[in-house]
Amino acid sequence: MSNRTIPIDERLHGYLLAHSLRESEIKRRLRAVTASLEWSGMQIAPEQGQLMALLVELIGARRIIEIGTFTGYSALCMAEAMPADGTLICCDLNEEWTGIARGFWREAGVEERIDLRLAPALETLDALLAQGGEGQFDLAFIDADKTNYTRYFERCLTLVRPGGLILFDNTLWGGRVADPDARDEETRAIRALNERLLGDQRVTLSLVPIGDGLTLARKR
Ligand SMILES: C[S@@+](CC[C@H](N)C(=O)[O-])C[C@H]1O[C@@H](n2cnc3c(N)ncnc32)[C@H](O)[C@@H]1O
Repeated sequence: MSNRTIPIDERLHGYLLAHSLRESEIKRRLRAVTASLEWSGMQIAPEQGQLMALLVELIGARRIIEIGTFTGYSALCMAEAMPADGTLICCDLNEEWTGIARGFWREAGVEERIDLRLAPALETLDALLAQGGEGQFDLAFIDADKTNYTRYFERCLTLVRPGGLILFDNTLWGGRVADPDARDEETRAIRALNERLLGDQRVTLSLVPIGDGLTLARKR
């Protein structure tokens, strides 16, 4: 017994999935289709998707922004957990990947809830702010280009209501955040975000070691 987070090896991870993952057949197929793509590693872990769905339910999120959609797995998890009249705005740049996403969203019956915006996410967020989006969102999930994470954070902090949640993916970045030899731009960007969040009293904070690290920041 210990008061630190348990290391998860393959066997224990298998157990965790076997004893907690409730994944629909559609989501399993979406993972299988995505696995054949060169950039499949960008998809979130299924147990993370399940946690995010639980968070959506917990805070009763009806209006969500996702930054970085890829083939739509995280969006599908969140959209299914929202009420039928909820709205999920998805930001991405890639038509091919989000084309796969659209097909699965349609099949899952959640396409109506999702508003996909194909444009640089900063432009989409600025447009939402200009249209009076301040405080209008319950949750934001940030999972796109790492070097823009702090810019996404500042915009999302304005767009999300007090008590709303901002989620950041990849905040452990394959362990490289803690590797002094890792000095590339993306690693430095994630480290800068983590430092900034630690000292930011505008949010309540937790970095959860699930997937590649998922940070939860609740707007105060
Ligand atoms: C890590 S993947 C997202 C994974 C997704 N959340 C999932 O569960 O499968 C990152 C996505 O961000 C998109 N992206 C990268 N830079 C972007 C930008 N500046 N604006 C909008 N989307 C961007 C990429 O096209 C890619 O699909």
